[in-house]
Amino acid sequence: MHDTPEAAIERPQKLTFSPLVTVQQHILQEQRRFVGASGEFSWLLSGLTLATKLVAAKVRRAGLSDILGAEGSTNVQGEVQQKLDVYANDMLLHALKVRESVAMMASEEDETPLLAHGGSPTAKYIVVFDPLDGSSNIDVNVSVGTTFSILRRTRPLDEEVTTDEVLQPGNKQVAAGYVLYGSSTMLVYSAGRGVHGFTLDPAVGAYVLSHPNIRIPSSGKYYSMNEAHLDRCPEPYQRLVAGLRSGEYGKRYDSRYIGSMVSDFHRTLLKGGIFLYPPNDLRPEGKLRLLYEANPIAYIAEQAGGRASDGRQRILDVQPTSIHQRTPFVVGGPQEMQYFEKALLAASV
Ligand code: AHG
Ligand code: MN
Ligand code: MN
Repeated sequence: MHDTPEAAIERPQKLTFSPLVTVQQHILQEQRRFVGASGEFSWLLSGLTLATKLVAAKVRRAGLSDILGAEGSTNVQGEVQQKLDVYANDMLLHALKVRESVAMMASEEDETPLLAHGGSPTAKYIVVFDPLDGSSNIDVNVSVGTTFSILRRTRPLDEEVTTDEVLQPGNKQVAAGYVLYGSSTMLVYSAGRGVHGFTLDPAVGAYVLSHPNIRIPSSGKYYSMNEAHLDRCPEPYQRLVAGLRSGEYGKRYDSRYIGSMVSDFHRTLLKGGIFLYPPNDLRPEGKLRLLYEANPIAYIAEQAGGRASDGRQRILDVQPTSIHQRTPFVVGGPQEMQYFEKALLAASV
């Protein structure tokens, strides 16, 4: 028997579709685990999402606007800055400096950290980032990214914030992640409870949960490194790559290398395998930066069931000594990381 219209009004209907989860909603749920969380953490992260949406919009128009090409200035690493590097840095600094919970920021593009609200009792976080990673790929329409890492202040909040408070090992990260400006724009982040991926819906300008609880496959098909440097790398790296290529580990691996760490890692995270930027004769400490490149990626990798190493120890346990310090970096799924460890051991006996 059918209900009369009156009866249908009295009996509420159950929702049967799964609602869209935006990154904002997700963060609000996450922050409940922070004692005394009052919305400030989600407000901080919304600074990152706002800035990266602005960067995404600029990247989309990169071939059209006057944005292509070098800015003419060089950054602290002596590298030529691209215009988009400068734009991305500005967007992040501007969006974050108005967040009351941000005490200080440190960027690849700035030699020293920048003060936001340091010394104020509300400012308990330090945000560290590479505003645009893989920027040499912009001119050829290849994916780039942003990496970020969030730390808590180590001194009492009413004391002035000091530069050494940035120098914390990666195991102290409160949250970390990256944005990949690829064929679509994706935000991947973790606040210590798994890794979640959000795809930017360009029609509505919202990051929507598309990849909940990402787990890195236990084994994959690809290794990823700049093989032009292989003969200048220490023996364990040569041994590992030889093994991956020859089938010594049960299958012959293929290689993929974009030269944009965020893109190369994102593929490794979703498809498994291993990404390496080893030390070599020309760069004995490797190329990638510990605080804002290796640490956030290592944090994501571990949260997804993978591992990350500098060839001596776990990346997240390395005590930094300077803001822009470089580190050898190897990150991947459990199986391939085991092969790497085997290669290290074989070389040391
Ligand atoms: P950035 O653009 O921030 O300077 O970083 C580029 C990095 C990284 O994205 C990539 O993994 C690496 O440089 C590629 O280096 P090679 O050209 O030496 O392979
Ligand atoms: Mn970079
Ligand atoms: Mn960069």
